Amino acid sequence: MPADDELLVRGLAVGVCGTDKEIVRGEYGWAPSDDGRLVLGHESLGVVERAPTGSRFARGDLVAGVVRRPDPEPCGACAHGEWDMCRNGRYTERGIKERHGYASELWTVEPDFAVKVDSGLGVAGVLTEPTSVVAKAWEQVERIGERAWFDPRRVLVTGAGPIGLLAAMIGAQRGLDVHVLDRVTDGPKPDLVRDLGATYHRTSIEEVAASTQPDVVIEATGVGALVFGAIAETASYGIVCLTGVSSGGRRLDVDAGSLNREIVLENDALVGSVNANLRHYQAAAESLAAADIDWLRRLLTTRVPLDRAVEVFDESAADDVKVVIELDENLA
Ligand code: BGC
Repeated sequence: MPADDELLVRGLAVGVCGTDKEIVRGEYGWAPSDDGRLVLGHESLGVVERAPTGSRFARGDLVAGVVRRPDPEPCGACAHGEWDMCRNGRYTERGIKERHGYASELWTVEPDFAVKVDSGLGVAGVLTEPTSVVAKAWEQVERIGERAWFDPRRVLVTGAGPIGLLAAMIGAQRGLDVHVLDRVTDGPKPDLVRDLGATYHRTSIEEVAASTQPDVVIEATGVGALVFGAIAETASYGIVCLTGVSSGGRRLDVDAGSLNREIVLENDALVGSVNANLRHYQAAAESLAAADIDWLRRLLTTRVPLDRAVEVFDESAADDVKVVIELDENLA
């Protein structure tokens, strides 16, 4: 049962990402300390069944739950509502770290850790959490850019998975010339990129970066060669934002001297970005509400009912974009 000050939410869907697959493989994730298992689901969508009086929510609202909770201390960042920037690592995350996730038919959430999703979005509202991650990345780019005169024109996004495509979508919403690099030739990705008015590339990172000279790179693969290739070829005052979490152990020959020289002589910046706070969820909800709903729905390339959920944790095809588990069998 929900506490008096919590929302009771009927789960509609959860998205599945690489983190979920890592958790299922036993490579990442932590169960709550008083439980031997972890309920998955950090990319949530549900409909409010019951809301505390005086909260910003009402029965029938579509909502997504926030993933991270501040550490118990809290550190300075968490104390300022910037739990995405937690300094001591003792934060918790629903569906990932020491808190059960949202992959259940009914869930509860504190109103301060939920965001309203535009009712017109329907199932595409499940993209709120991945979009929040991207909204944060763009905010980082903006803030770093503002350290001096900044008028970015061109963005290169590496990887046309959900994070890459949503980063490209926000780039297009900002009126930028958007370029996306991925390795697939078929499937929905090339068209999804083109339908944003962006350019799809399938060449090497060196080639695409040299020909586009991006002011901003949003790296969404975690592949070392792409990370270093992007850093080496930005425009002057370039900003590279890394959002992909790579598995360690892969070694790469890097000319550290040239890289250093390039970064210094061009005032380039390199930043990592993870998770999102409430401000980013709100920005995400706004971006999704302003997006083309048909385009968003095309990102949901695989949808399975709850009783087939186990099937989605295997390696997916390279042209799959977002996998969704439906918690409500009547979901349109
Ligand atoms: C989630 C983030 C989370 C990160 C690390 C990602 O998949 O989207 O919210 O902070 O994993 O646990």
